Amino acid sequence: MTSTAVIIPGDGIGPEITEATLRVLDAAGAEVEWVERQAGVAAMEAGDAVLPESTLEAIRAHKVALKGPCTTPVGKGFRSVNVQLRKKFDLYAAVRPVRNLPGIDTPFDDVDIVVIRENTEGLYAGVENEITDGVVASMKVATEKGCTRVARWAFDYAKTRGRKKVTVFHKANIMKLSDGMLLRCAEEVHAEEFPEIEYENTIIDAACMRMVQRPSQFDVLLLENLYGDVVSDLCAGLVGGLGVIPGANFGDDGAIFEAVHGSAPDIAGQNVANPLALMMSGVMLLNYLADTRGEEQNRQAAQRIKVAYDQALTDGKKTRDLAGTLNTDEFADAVIERL
Ligand code: NAI
Repeated sequence: MTSTAVIIPGDGIGPEITEATLRVLDAAGAEVEWVERQAGVAAMEAGDAVLPESTLEAIRAHKVALKGPCTTPVGKGFRSVNVQLRKKFDLYAAVRPVRNLPGIDTPFDDVDIVVIRENTEGLYAGVENEITDGVVASMKVATEKGCTRVARWAFDYAKTRGRKKVTVFHKANIMKLSDGMLLRCAEEVHAEEFPEIEYENTIIDAACMRMVQRPSQFDVLLLENLYGDVVSDLCAGLVGGLGVIPGANFGDDGAIFEAVHGSAPDIAGQNVANPLALMMSGVMLLNYLADTRGEEQNRQAAQRIKVAYDQALTDGKKTRDLAGTLNTDEFADAVIERL
């Protein structure tokens, strides 16, 4: 049976990398019927809301989406489409696997980290006030429910994927209540439900230094929203940059898959962006369909794509961000040739 899923091309480089990704998924034999919807600046330019009701309805109906990046202009009056989507569908666990890939030279060759970011609370709750002229305050929100469920998700992920350790990065020495809440909840979930998984916590500033010195000491990371955002990009830098890190936002009843990177306005419309991160996010989507709907043909398609892009990279077929020469569509062609 063919699944349905929503595809949102997004802004900037979004449409280019979406087209490349869908060509690869299709050529690999993925059985997904895509329902296209718009979001972001693209939707506004088409005369619609930044997050149109038709897009929300489609995600509600199909429960799974692959999304290109959406631009969030800095300044007043524009709420991030990404943050809105995560909150509306309660996609509380963002997962970003960070691994070395063949053919990409980096200072370390043993990076294998999964960043799990709490996706609905923290400073992204968007509670900001102008207290008086020249004084503003942003509220960092941490709830016991939110911290417990993402901690449980992280330990469960570690257990089911055969991972050994979960590390919480925090600043509970300063933010004793909010960061302290995530620490306490993680400790409780660990002690009561997952004692077989190793658990540690470390203050985030020192953790970042340790990360760039010896990343192999980390396995699964659990972070609140803002730290997860920042540390994901730091980890991307360890293995070749933003063009090679996929992502997924999971809730209890659906998921949206997207690359970690943004809409890259500096290179949009030039056919030079690396489509690999979105392609890898597409692979995660296919595996999710296989896990949740028993679609084995999609698991096989996912595996074929992984082997093919590994081979393409090994053969030196790379886009410019990886010191290669291929354009977006040429990289997709190179993957398709190796399927
Ligand atoms: P960005 O990730 O778009 O770009 C940072 C740098 O990485 C740029 O030099 C860009 O050219 C490069 N880059 C990113 N993806 C690439 C790819 N696939 N291939 C080659 N090079 C790539 O981050 P930036 O500039 O901070 O944000 C741009 C816009 O994207 C903003 O409006 C931001 O709010 C939005 N954004 C959206 C996200 C999403 O939709 N999930 C996530 C992050 C940012």
